[in-house]
Amino acid sequence: MTAHEISEFLAPIRHEFPDQRSLILPALRFAQEEQGWLPQGAMAAVAEATGYSQAYVESVASFYDRLYTEPVGRRVISVCTTLSCMLRGSDELLAHVAANIGTDGEGTSADGMFTLQRAECLGACDRAPCLQVDSNDQQGPLTHDAADALIGALRADGAPTRYDR
Ligand code: FES
Repeated sequence: MTAHEISEFLAPIRHEFPDQRSLILPALRFAQEEQGWLPQGAMAAVAEATGYSQAYVESVASFYDRLYTEPVGRRVISVCTTLSCMLRGSDELLAHVAANIGTDGEGTSADGMFTLQRAECLGACDRAPCLQVDSNDQQGPLTHDAADALIGALRADGAPTRYDR
């Protein structure tokens, strides 16, 4: 992903952001689509395209859960462990998912298929315990059997055509 490509992506939406710092977020999301995460080169390209320093761009990227500054699996599973979900078994759900995908708690499976992480409230407390696949697919309430079925379906499905994270 080059700074020029990012600039072209931003051109039609620049006017929607009176504070140009706000362009950094969509630029990072766009840059992340290429590899599914943000290597240094991608953040340098965002910095060049937006006119902010790479250090500042990196500070923005590191703040958000779904911007990845290290490689992640093809599908990212975020298990909510905030209060409502915790009271309905999110720690056990997280452990169950980890056992299924073969990680020791949070982390990326050896086959590179899944990254598992904890998440703060996903805004779906009425569906506790819940998790989110990639950036927008919330599932819940999930029994352990339902989680197994979901993971099986994700395995069969593979990666999204474009990283939708
Ligand atoms: Fe889990 Fe809100 S506490 S979605």
